[in-house]
Amino acid sequence: NQRKFFVGGNWKMNGDKDELTKICNSLMNAKLHETTEVVVAPPSIYLDFVRQKLPAKIGVSAQNCYKIPKGAFTGEISPAMIKDNMCDWVILGHSERRHVFGESDHLIGEKVKHALESGISIIPCIGEKLDERESNKTNEVCFRQLKEIAANIKDWTRVVVAYEPVWAIGTGKTASPAQAQEVHKCVRDWLKTNVSEEVAKSTRILYGGSVTSGNCKELASQPDVDGFLVGGASLKPEFIDIINAK
Ligand code: G3H
Repeated sequence: NQRKFFVGGNWKMNGDKDELTKICNSLMNAKLHETTEVVVAPPSIYLDFVRQKLPAKIGVSAQNCYKIPKGAFTGEISPAMIKDNMCDWVILGHSERRHVFGESDHLIGEKVKHALESGISIIPCIGEKLDERESNKTNEVCFRQLKEIAANIKDWTRVVVAYEPVWAIGTGKTASPAQAQEVHKCVRDWLKTNVSEEVAKSTRILYGGSVTSGNCKELASQPDVDGFLVGGASLKPEFIDIINAK
């Protein structure tokens, strides 16, 4: 397996300077497996603050960005600004962006294109809602979202895909290892058919949705689960155990 295990911590709209300092210190003091790539995503106003605290081997990511470099777009940040703060990553199309803020597949595709062209790496997210799963539309939804993302990618070496079933996010209702593996395998097969065998083999596919220290090991043992995008638990000491799940 040529895919380095990857664990992202999406801190969402949480933390203040005190709390983020504590989390950074706990990451620095812990023994983290060298075989895992770690990236944390603080609120954008703390990107610089967190980047300055953490060693270079831990990546820092924005949680979102806009599709052009600058201009009259009140409240937005650009990939150029993320880079200017020495951060190399951005999460795009997170389910909260899609479903709370109404971002479309098309807009997410435009953001994917611009972020990659600006030279940062991306964590694009896909995932179905509960009613979509219950009506057997999981693959249809994931492939539709993935298609718009993939159409805007030339260099897959700077892409880590996150599969996050919406019904599992922040609910304590994790996908079972078998459920996660099933979708991850379908996503990898989709990449093989629609992009290339090499991209399918080398692209990391993360699972996200109520990952905890208790369920991370079994999830990590699935052949197509290459890591996690962790929300709530990434703010807690158990984040270290999740990083070290493999
Ligand atoms: O990006 C992270 C996901 O939304 C998962 O969040 O671990 O709190 O369920 P959660």
